[in-house]
Amino acid sequence: MTADARGAVTFRFGGREVRGREGDTIAMALWAAGEPVLRRSSSLGAPRGLFCNMGVCYECLVAVDGRTVRACTTVVREGMQVEPGGRP
Ligand code: FES
Repeated sequence: MTADARGAVTFRFGGREVRGREGDTIAMALWAAGEPVLRRSSSLGAPRGLFCNMGVCYECLVAVDGRTVRACTTVVREGMQVEPGGRP
């Protein structure tokens, strides 16, 4: 399947509507939409985003429907509610 053959998926990130592609991870869909900041650090409020992109570092935590997940390993779904950050 080519990237162009995949269907569109619409979800929300921090209240903003974002369009991704079927099979994208949350991180890749947000990156492609020009949104590289996934959360802020708890100590300094510094922007945090993708680091390892393979589920190891936990830099990409977001909340999906109230559950903390890694954006780099979670596939987007239609209507998904994603919020920056999460509980480490
Ligand atoms: S970027 Fe490292 S766990 Fe997601």
